Amino acid sequence: MAAAPYVVIGGGQAGLQICDSLRRLGYDGPLVLLAAESSPPYQRPPLSKKFLAGDLEAERLYFRPSSWFEKNAVELRLECTVTAIDRAARRVSCADGSVVDYARLALATGARIRPLACPGADLADICYVRSLADSEALRARLPGAARLAVVGGGFIGLEVAAIARTLGKSVVLYEGLDRLMARAVSPTISDYYAALHRGHGVDLRLGCGIAAIERTRHGLLVRDANGGEVEVDIVVAGIGVVPNDEIAAAAGLECRGGIVVDAQARTSDADIVAAGDCTWHYNGFLAREIRLESVQNAVDQAKVAAASLLGAGEPYVQVPWFWSDQYDVKLQMAGIGMPHDNSALRGTTASGSFSLFYFRDGRLVGADSVNRPADHMACRRLLAQGTMVTAAQVADSEVDLMQIARG
Ligand code: APR
Repeated sequence: MAAAPYVVIGGGQAGLQICDSLRRLGYDGPLVLLAAESSPPYQRPPLSKKFLAGDLEAERLYFRPSSWFEKNAVELRLECTVTAIDRAARRVSCADGSVVDYARLALATGARIRPLACPGADLADICYVRSLADSEALRARLPGAARLAVVGGGFIGLEVAAIARTLGKSVVLYEGLDRLMARAVSPTISDYYAALHRGHGVDLRLGCGIAAIERTRHGLLVRDANGGEVEVDIVVAGIGVVPNDEIAAAAGLECRGGIVVDAQARTSDADIVAAGDCTWHYNGFLAREIRLESVQNAVDQAKVAAASLLGAGEPYVQVPWFWSDQYDVKLQMAGIGMPHDNSALRGTTASGSFSLFYFRDGRLVGADSVNRPADHMACRRLLAQGTMVTAAQVADSEVDLMQIARG
């Protein structure tokens, strides 16, 4: 009987990386990648940026051509949604009735959008941006729409708002909290982005969730929680994501707002690893457990997961980093700057090129850089090495941070 394959569930960035790393690390046995989507693994970040703007075609999003899967003997099964894991039988079941035996299993199931819950949330013309299909649907609607309401002032909502304004649409953006990107950045950065969007003509409504959406003769009427109402053609919601951990939980794997994995990306079952947005994991750099939604985490944790599948897991000790493109402004975040007890500004907000460095107990813990990529790279290196820098040093633009990082 042929040996059972290593099976990877999830065709996103993490799933693809696990397959890639397994082959690079010398695993030459059978390998199956089960993906719910109908497209081969693709990059998500452009879905709310260049792809949505119409500046990039879908094929350009694919990580690998189909020949890569053949050459690397990765059996890619698309439109295959795994519904259950039988750990005793070492077998997964799919929605189409098929079953796949595994020798070892990797979960890279990602996260899914949190849907709107208000009355009218199920009307047509309410869009999300998570999958290629979501972004394609919104992109196809944009030419026929002049008025957008965006719900959520996180990365997705703000990136969509920027694209829509660039395309000349009117945009009303509702954020339930009193500042933008509150989960990720400090008030200084939030305020800068509020001014940026208002300067580009976005009608920004902070501290204002939406209460209901109704169909009208000419569009959709958005009623907000403060009693306001606006008629639009499309509503786009970006109100966060939830980890896909249900099949893991149903199989008895420990889950806590994500599939619990240790520093080697191992679940509570020795034969099962997990990586990416779906994991609640121990990050050795942060010295704590966290769930991260990022390309960096998907790639780096997947490498650790692949090594663990082969029995030689190096611990996951990586500096988290993220980015967001809005208009011609690039926001790059290094480390986890929130919470902090001190911060230092490098450059000036007026110049549109600055970084805010964050400190906790006298130690650098992160930085948000706005159109200042060199600071971002220096901060990542300083953090990775644990190099001591002071607030006074980072605030002085004459001080070469990369040189300090190089030692
Ligand atoms: N009305 C208005 N705002 C809301 C509501 C609501 N009902 N519910 C949530 N929000 C706001 C939150 O306060 C938050 O500011 O929506 C924002 C969601 O931001 P994120 O959690 O960053 O989620 P999102 O922008 O959807 O991005 C989801 O995709 O690309 C990735 O990096 C991105 O990991 C992130 C994920």
